[in-house]
Amino acid sequence: MAYVNENYLKLKGNYLFSEIARRVNAFTEANPDKKIIRLGIGDVTLPLPDACIRAMHSAVDEMSKKESFRGYGPEQGYDFLIDKIIKNDYNAKGISLDTDEVFISDGSKSDTGNIGDIFSGNNVVAVTDPVYPVYVDTNVMGGRSGALDENGKWSNIVYLPCTIENNFVPSLPEKRVDILYLCFPNNPTGTTITRQELKKWVDYARENNTVILYDAAYEAYISEENVAHSIYEIEGAKEVAIEFRSFSKNAGFTGTRCAFAVVPKQLYAFAENGDKVQLNKLWNRRHTTKFNGTAYIIQRGAEAVYSDEGKEQIKELISYYMENAAIIRNGLMGLGLTVFGGINAPYIWLKVPDGYDSWGFFDKLLGEANVVGTPGVGFGPSGEGYFRLTAFGDRANTIEAMERIKNLKF
Ligand code: MLT
Repeated sequence: MAYVNENYLKLKGNYLFSEIARRVNAFTEANPDKKIIRLGIGDVTLPLPDACIRAMHSAVDEMSKKESFRGYGPEQGYDFLIDKIIKNDYNAKGISLDTDEVFISDGSKSDTGNIGDIFSGNNVVAVTDPVYPVYVDTNVMGGRSGALDENGKWSNIVYLPCTIENNFVPSLPEKRVDILYLCFPNNPTGTTITRQELKKWVDYARENNTVILYDAAYEAYISEENVAHSIYEIEGAKEVAIEFRSFSKNAGFTGTRCAFAVVPKQLYAFAENGDKVQLNKLWNRRHTTKFNGTAYIIQRGAEAVYSDEGKEQIKELISYYMENAAIIRNGLMGLGLTVFGGINAPYIWLKVPDGYDSWGFFDKLLGEANVVGTPGVGFGPSGEGYFRLTAFGDRANTIEAMERIKNLKF
C-alpha cells in the first residue's frame, strides 16, 4: 500500500487563484452574455518586448542547425544570462556576485515553493500577513505548519500582520524564528518598506541566525529612491538572505517562464549536529537533481532584457502598467475608498466598504460589475476586509472596470 504525504490533506480547498478561476468559470457559465474584466491574478497582458522576441527567434534558428543546436544546458543556467544579471542587476548597485551564486529557473513561484526542500521540517517559519499564498501552502506541504485554527492561522507559523494600523510595515517577530519570508515591493498589498527598515530585518536575521527568503519579483516597479531593489544593498545581507527575482512582471514572461534565485556562498544554516552547511551547495544539489534547466530559447529571450533596446522596452511596459495603477488608485479614491499600493508596485490594495468582507466584496464586484479581483483574506487572516486589484490589465479594460465600479452602490 502506498501512503500519501498527509501534510497535503491539511490544505483546505484550492490554491487561491485556482479557487478564483473556479468561481469565475461558474459565473461565466451561468451568465454567458456578461463581459468579464479580470483584474484578479497578476498576469500581464502586453506582449513580450520586441528585443526578447527577436532574440528568441534567432535562438530558434540556432536550434534548427546541427552546428548550433543545443541539448541539455547547465541546470543552473547559461553563463551568458547569469553574467548579464550580475552586471546589470547587482554590479550596477555595487553588489558583487559570483556566477555560481545565481540559479536560473522557470519562475519565482517554483523557487519560493521549492526552497523549502533544503530546510528541516523543524524550522519555525514567519510570514508577513497577508502574504503570497505559495509561501504558506508549501510550508504546509513540507510539514512545518502545525494545525489550522479557526482564524485561518497555522499553529507553527508566525504571522507578522501588515495592516492600516502599522502602515503595512511588519514588526520584528516577538519570538525567534528560523526562516522568514519577506516580499518587497509587497504582493499583495503593493506597499513597501524603506532601506532603513529593511536593515532592521537584516540585523535581526544576523543576530538570530535566521534565513531571510526575500522575494523581489516586483523590484522593477520601485519608483521611490529610499527603497532597495535588492536585499544585498543592505550590509551583511549576503550572510542571511536568499533573493528571488523574476522576468515575469518586468518583461512579461508569465507564460514564457524565466526567473532566478541568488544564493550567496556566505550563507549558512545548521545540521542537527551543529555543523554549518553552505546553502548554496544544497540548493545547487537540489537544482541539478530535480531541474533540467530553463530552455535555451527562453534564456536568450531573458538575456535580451538587458540590451539597450530591451531596457527601453521594459521601461515602457512598466510605465503602461503603472498608469493603469494610477487609474485604479485615483478612481477608487474618488469613490472615497481607502487605497494602498500602486506607487512602487502594480497592485492596489483597498479597504472594502463597510458592510462587506473580502469574499462578499468579490461577489459584489463579480456579480454586479463583472470585474474580477482578489479577496484580501485569500492572502491570510490579516487580509480580511481588504481586496486586491491588479494593474496588469489592458488599458481599455482597466478604464471600463473603473467605470463599472463607479456605478456600483455600496
Ligand atoms: C499574483 O497574482 O499574486 C501573482 O500573479 C501570482 C504569481 O506570480 O504566481
